[in-house]
Amino acid sequence: MVIKKICAVILLFFFIQSHAQNNSRPYENARVIKLGSLTPEIETVLNAYQVTYLSCRAHSDSPELIVKDEVLHWLNHHQIPYTLLEKDLKSKIEREYQHMLKMGKRRDGESWYLTYRTYEEVQDKLSEIARESSIADLIDLGLSFENRPITGLRLNTGGTDKPAIFINGCQHAREWITVMASTFLADHLIYNYNTDVFIQNLLDHVDVYIVPIVNPDGYVYSHTTDRYWRKNRQLNPSSSCVGTDLNRNWDADWNGGESTSTSSCSDVYVGEEAFSAVEAQNVKNYMESIPNLKGHLDIHSYSALVLGPWGYTHQITPDHEEVVSLGTAMNDALTDANEYSYTFGTGDANGALYLASGTMPDWSYDSLGAFGYTYELRPQTWGEGGFELPESKIKLACEENYQGALEMLIWAAQDAMGCTNPVALNFDVHATLDDGSCEFNMSLDSQMIILPQGWRIFSTYIQPTEPQLDLVLAPISEELIMVKNGIGSAYLPEYSYNGIGDLVDGQAYQLKLKSSDTLSIRGMKIPHKNFEMLLTEGWNMMAYLCDSVSDVLPAFDLIRDQVHLVKSSDGSVYLPEFNYDGLGKLTPGEGYQVKMRSTVSFTYP
Ligand code: ARG
Ligand code: ZN
Repeated sequence: MVIKKICAVILLFFFIQSHAQNNSRPYENARVIKLGSLTPEIETVLNAYQVTYLSCRAHSDSPELIVKDEVLHWLNHHQIPYTLLEKDLKSKIEREYQHMLKMGKRRDGESWYLTYRTYEEVQDKLSEIARESSIADLIDLGLSFENRPITGLRLNTGGTDKPAIFINGCQHAREWITVMASTFLADHLIYNYNTDVFIQNLLDHVDVYIVPIVNPDGYVYSHTTDRYWRKNRQLNPSSSCVGTDLNRNWDADWNGGESTSTSSCSDVYVGEEAFSAVEAQNVKNYMESIPNLKGHLDIHSYSALVLGPWGYTHQITPDHEEVVSLGTAMNDALTDANEYSYTFGTGDANGALYLASGTMPDWSYDSLGAFGYTYELRPQTWGEGGFELPESKIKLACEENYQGALEMLIWAAQDAMGCTNPVALNFDVHATLDDGSCEFNMSLDSQMIILPQGWRIFSTYIQPTEPQLDLVLAPISEELIMVKNGIGSAYLPEYSYNGIGDLVDGQAYQLKLKSSDTLSIRGMKIPHKNFEMLLTEGWNMMAYLCDSVSDVLPAFDLIRDQVHLVKSSDGSVYLPEFNYDGLGKLTPGEGYQVKMRSTVSFTYP
């Protein structure tokens, strides 16, 4: 027993050791330099030495590079200026690994964000979030080249066809902070949904899709074997070099020559054709299936940038003004979160970067019409950690990303926001989220309704100031026996039981009186021409919203094919199918039972 335990400990020790050595091994005796300037001649030589370009930029005028001593000798010999940023890269990677070991077991709540997490840990976290939250579902985007699931979360608080945004991390394997930041975003949106009315409102109007790791194989490989791996791990036919740069494989100026390569050994290899990379193809299919996708954030690191479309050309998009306004808002939010400065731009971001062909957000924009942006999270430079943003800064980057993404949610929700009250002066028919902007004309109207003894269907064209049904009907409470709505709920004054709640604009109610009485309702008149009501298949209790009598036929003319019958309190009917009109007139104060063949949206003419 004891021996077994010791063996297990020793094995674990070796496993840990080998892991630590493995993803740093390619960087034995490797150093990081920043070149003074990059000419095409120098670049050709560097490529022959197979140096690795750092930051998420494939190229820059003064790139940060991983080099071996042979390159340094060559640079020295040709008196090409550079600065040494890191003289022992291997131990830098190992320091990061030691921290992961130390912190790795602390998983709950916020401690999850104290260190970088493996693919498995992220999968567990996503499942846990989905299990514990009623607004989050796990989504499955298919498998990677090595058959790992690409998974994410969908935040949906109900409803269909709401504006949606899609956020992904880790197209590039080594950009570990992007995995933390997108998981954090899901985690915290969900947490805040339950505690913050503003976030609740937002999520009630926008669906959010979050996929922290779209390149699982590359991510795993960067943990086990090569800390600075960028591409996926797809084998290339007739080449010993592995992988495609996912963010060059999308069908937006694919292989257009801006920061691309057709060599399978290059870090910016475009792949055999657009979407030849399994992961790009699967994520594409999923994104195409999202109804009403408005925005996309592709999270990268490092450089502290926000990039808007297009990335493959200096030209501006037809939506440039809006692209800039949202981009600036997001950039300000990222910057303000912790007063760490980010820079926004489109194209090459005013020289902060080079153009890039075949990137994912450009595809989202060109093919899906969704505003696609790239975030390059902190740090700004290699000197501040590069891809190994110090663990003590993970939370800061996560918060910045959260604030930036929030701006996109607000932007996506804004179409849905407005004044939703039909009696308001600034009523917005298209708004589904009330933003508190309604303005009212303060003069009140009233309606007198004469109700007979016995059963009657009644409705009103007034939106009562106080809509609670028992208050609306208080003036006739002495005579009132009961009220029913169209879905079988009741108000029973005798028992002070109001199972109906508020009077709903556009709805009619059945009520029963001991003897005839007159009801007066005060409030604001519903502008019937603005008021859209849903008549659902089957029976409906429909209010009459005009303030004078009108003919039945013209009122239902536009939907007569869908109407089965209209019936009033006294049993008279209108049957459009047989051209039979026993009803004649619609009268204010009365309500109607309408049986529909299918669901339609209806407005009084
Ligand atoms: N730096 C990332 C890459 O190399 C994103 C490039 C996007 N470029 C742009 N100009 N929008 O893949
Ligand atoms: Zn990247």
